[in-house]
Order: sequence, then structure tokens, then C-alpha cells
Amino acid sequence: MVVPNVHLSSGYNMPIFGLGTWQSKPGEVAAAVRIALEAGYRHIDCAFAYQNQKEIGEVLTKIFAEGKIKREEVFITSKVWNTFHSFEQAKLNIQTIINDLELQYIDLLLIHWPQGYEEGGEIFPLTESGKMRYSNEDYLDTWKALEEAQKAGKVRSIGISNFNHKQIERLWNSANIKPSVLQVELHPFFQQQKLRDFCKAKNIAVTAYSPLGNPGSAFFRKSGDPDVLTNEVIGGIAKTHGKTAAQVTLRWFIEHGIIVIPKSISENRIKENFNIFDFQLTPAEVSQIDGLNKNWRLVDPTPRDGDHPHFPFLEEF
Ligand SMILES: NC(=O)c1ccc[n+]([C@@H]2O[C@H](COP(=O)([O-])OP(=O)(O)OC[C@H]3O[C@@H](n4cnc5c(N)ncnc54)[C@H](OP(=O)(O)O)[C@@H]3O)[C@@H](O)[C@H]2O)c1
Repeated sequence: MVVPNVHLSSGYNMPIFGLGTWQSKPGEVAAAVRIALEAGYRHIDCAFAYQNQKEIGEVLTKIFAEGKIKREEVFITSKVWNTFHSFEQAKLNIQTIINDLELQYIDLLLIHWPQGYEEGGEIFPLTESGKMRYSNEDYLDTWKALEEAQKAGKVRSIGISNFNHKQIERLWNSANIKPSVLQVELHPFFQQQKLRDFCKAKNIAVTAYSPLGNPGSAFFRKSGDPDVLTNEVIGGIAKTHGKTAAQVTLRWFIEHGIIVIPKSISENRIKENFNIFDFQLTPAEVSQIDGLNKNWRLVDPTPRDGDHPHFPFLEEF
């Protein structure tokens, strides 16, 4: 099975489907990456902050050395972390990412969040009250380091994550190289149509994170948060197709042309999530899932980061 691509404004193609790796622990993530690539995945979503990139780098090196899958067939995304937002720190972080992943180049490098944290120390510099210690570094300077990395051939495409439309516009107006991709939270209960339309008008491809609603995680999820995988509408559509709720949810992104990166460390679920290219949702089924939107954000660090002047989620979109 060859996964369809989304054509990026940088000129490169990005597989519309990939493996997420947040909360995949060292000791688990290498096996997950191997299972995924052997099952046909050709896109892995990584980040410095996930603290598992060295293990991903080791397994990628082994897999490429085995010769069945070539480096150029796999699309690797990573993200510059919030404690590296100054131009000089961002350059260092980019080099660390490349070294840890044991790659000559990264396919897509994103600024993980617009808000910067105190530089040079721990990656979550929390105060005793649970707030983050900030830096005032501007993401426009971080962007210059990404542009430099792209020009140097260390990175093929560059983009952003968790930026709101005003921040994208501000970046757009000063950037020499425009962002190719925006990665944000998207699932049936949080569809971000205005932000998607805004990106479409600028030819910025959109990647959906937490596409299954990050079930089972207590990191951001709160009691009372809705559950994508037990939703009756999605369950009913799944029954019609002989598919699971996860497969129908992931297929809904494909029907919309949205890049999607479900995370799993389970062999069965990694394979299940990939098995979505042998069926299609009807336009009526797509509309039914479109109708589930509740503007319900699940990944929300407002209590921790909300005071930062660049915190993105206080704008409508
Ligand atoms: N840019 C950002 O700020 C940002 C933020 C969040 C996420 N992300 C990226 O997006 C990726 C995906 O988002 P996410 O990890 O938050 O959430 P997700 O992919 O929506 O959900 C992952 C959770 O769902 C479970 N799962 C996976 N497939 C399943 C299936 N078929 N049936 C039932 N449960 C299933 C996984 O458990 P098992 O592992 O046990 O299968 C895991 O607990 C991340 O891994 C990361 O790469 C980026």
C-alpha cells in the first residue's frame, strides 16, 4: 500500500498518514517505529521534547542499513522546543535533533509552540506554583534559524505548530521562506474549520495531532472530556464498513485531505490504524462526522502557559 502524499509549498511531498511518538517511552518507541515502517508507514512525527529521539535515531539507522527501506522513502518530522527560541539556541537545538535522529537532513522541522520558555536549562522550567518560567524570545527569531537550516540543506521543509492565525500572519509577513505546514490539534470534537480555511488560502498544509483525542492519557485530558472512540455516530459508521471507530476517524481526515499522525506503541493498533486505505466514507458519512464538532480543545496548557504574551489559544482561532 502506497500512502497518498500531500504536496507542500516547499516543493516536497509529505505522506498524508504517519506515526505519532509523543508519550512513546524509550524502550517502546523503537519497536513501534519498526512495526510501523514494516507495516507500510513512511512518515514518523518526532519532537525534541518527547525525549525519545535517540532511540528513534538508532532504530532508523538499523532499518536503513538493512536495506529494505531507504532513507529517502521515509518522511521525518521534528520540532524545535520552547527552551530554544533565540536564534543561537534554535540553531543548537536543530543540530541536536539531527544528531539524535542520526540523519543527514530532516524532512520537516516545526517550531513546536509560539511561546518560549526560560532558555538553557530543564525543558519544562516550572515554578513551584505550576506555571512555566518564560523567555521573551520571539518566534520570528526562531524562524530565522529554521530558514537558515533549510538553506543549508539540513531541513527540507519548515513549519509551525500550535500557532493561531494572527501569529501565522505575523510570521508570514516577515518570513523569507513561508511555512509549509501547520500542525495543530484536530479531531471530530475540535475541527478548527476557520484555521483550516485560513491555511488553505495560504497553501499551508495542515497536520492533525491527537486525531483520536489522545484517549487514555492523563497529561492534558480531564474528566468530562468527550471520547472520540466511543462516539455513537462514529461507531455506527464503523459498523457499516466493518471497521473500527479509530479507522473511521482516521479515514475522515484522509477524506478532508488533512495529514494525520496517530500514536500507538501496540502492534495491533499500529496495524489497525494503517488499515484505512481500502475503504472510503460517503459524503453523507463525512458530513455526519463534521456535525460532531464541539470546539472542544483537549490539549490545553492554558493554566500553565496562559500568561505568556505569545500563548496561542486565547484567540478565537
Ligand atoms: N505539536 C504538538 O504540540 C503535538 C501535541 C500532541 C500530539 N502531537 C503529535 O501527534 C501525535 C498523535 O497525538 P496523540 O499522541 O496526542 O494522540 P492520539 O494519536 O489521538 O492518541 C494516542 C492514544 O490512543 C491510543 N490508540 C492509538 N490507536 C488506537 C486504536 N486504534 N484504538 C484505541 N486506542 C488507540 C494510544 O494507545 P497505545 O499506544 O497503547 O496504542 C494512545 O494512548 C503525537 O504522538 C505527536 O506525535 C503533537
